[in-house]
Amino acid sequence: MRKMVKQNSKLFIVASAAIVLVVIVWVVLGSHRNITQPISYNHKIHIEEAELTCVDCHLYVETMPTATIPNIEICQDCHSDEPMSDSPEEVKLLKYIEEGEKIPWQRIYAVPNHVYFSHRRHVTIGEIACSNCHGNVEELTEPPSYPLWLPTMENCISCHKEHKVTYDCLACHR
Ligand code: HEC
Ligand code: HEC
Ligand code: HEC
Ligand code: HEC
Ligand code: HEC
Repeated sequence: MRKMVKQNSKLFIVASAAIVLVVIVWVVLGSHRNITQPISYNHKIHIEEAELTCVDCHLYVETMPTATIPNIEICQDCHSDEPMSDSPEEVKLLKYIEEGEKIPWQRIYAVPNHVYFSHRRHVTIGEIACSNCHGNVEELTEPPSYPLWLPTMENCISCHKEHKVTYDCLACHR
């Protein structure tokens, strides 16, 4: 009887250790979660070759809180029928367009719902360049797999202090 209790408690310790390990690995991997997009979109080519600017695709970045990520409605202005390149990524895009199916882009930059962030306020009124928060997107030949800048409370407040902008709790949490 005693022996069994001992064995059980040994088993319990081993099992707990395994669970703790799994949780640690999950948390560590989770915080460095590498995001893979459905199409390997190339910012550099579209800015240099197609001569587009950020607001041509991120339509609301100057006028609204959210910039938005473009989908097939915008891509099909140029991409329809015949491919313009020999890239297999463009073949994938043409399939989405042909089937009228949305490209399931994943968000990389996001703040929780309890935080208010406005692109218009920063980009248009504050005249802050995209690169301050998103790095040199125009040089990207593939989608970023992780945020180049983290929109944490600490990072928001440190720039507000630098620019002598309010950091009252209710400015960001309303
Ligand atoms: C032809 C359209 C197009 C243009 C022009 C464009 N983008 Fe994008 N952008 C996209 C697409 C598509 C994605 C989603 C795939 C990806 O992450 O690369 C994206 C993603 C992003 C993201 C990541 C958003 C997130 O949270 O996942 C940022 C930041 C961004 N673009 C900034 C810019 C900036 C800055 C410019 C101008 C220098 C720009 N973009 C020009 C199409 C465009
Ligand atoms: C204003 C026209 C225009 C728009 C709008 C546009 N593209 Fe393109 N795209 C081009 C041109 C031009 C090329 C060919 C560039 C080259 O190969 O020289 C291209 C090439 C591509 C390629 C293949 C080349 C590579 O390196 O990956 C993909 C994939 C692509 N575009 C995705 C998109 C997506 C996704 C959208 C919408 C979010 C989009 N494009 C919107 C003009 C456009
Ligand atoms: C002061 C920092 C800052 C600047 C400057 C900034 N962004 Fe953002 N961006 C963010 C934050 C924070 C988010 C996440 C917002 C959210 O979750 O609502 C974001 C999200 C995005 C997204 C994802 C979709 C969306 O609407 O949330 C895109 C695309 C984007 N930004 C593009 C741009 C472009 C293009 C510019 C320049 C014209 C720009 N950003 C300037 C901080 C910034
Ligand atoms: C690169 C610097 C910078 C970063 C990073 C930044 N901000 Fe700001 N923010 C500013 C500036 C500058 C203004 C003032 C713009 C103006 O009105 O002239 C501002 C204004 C604001 C306002 C309006 C404040 C008011 O007066 O009511 C809010 C809300 C805000 N930011 C939220 C955020 C959040 C949330 C983040 C992080 C996700 C963030 N900001 C990151 C520079 C920054
Ligand atoms: C300039 C914008 C800004 C200001 C000012 C600000 N916060 Fe935040 N806060 C954020 C952002 C962005 C997040 C989400 C990201 C994170 O958790 O770091 C956040 C997250 C939080 C959270 C949730 C933390 C969690 O672990 O989920 C609490 C609680 C909070 N803030 C309280 C406050 C209080 C209290 C103040 C005033 C002393 C304040 N905040 C001022 C931007 C701000």
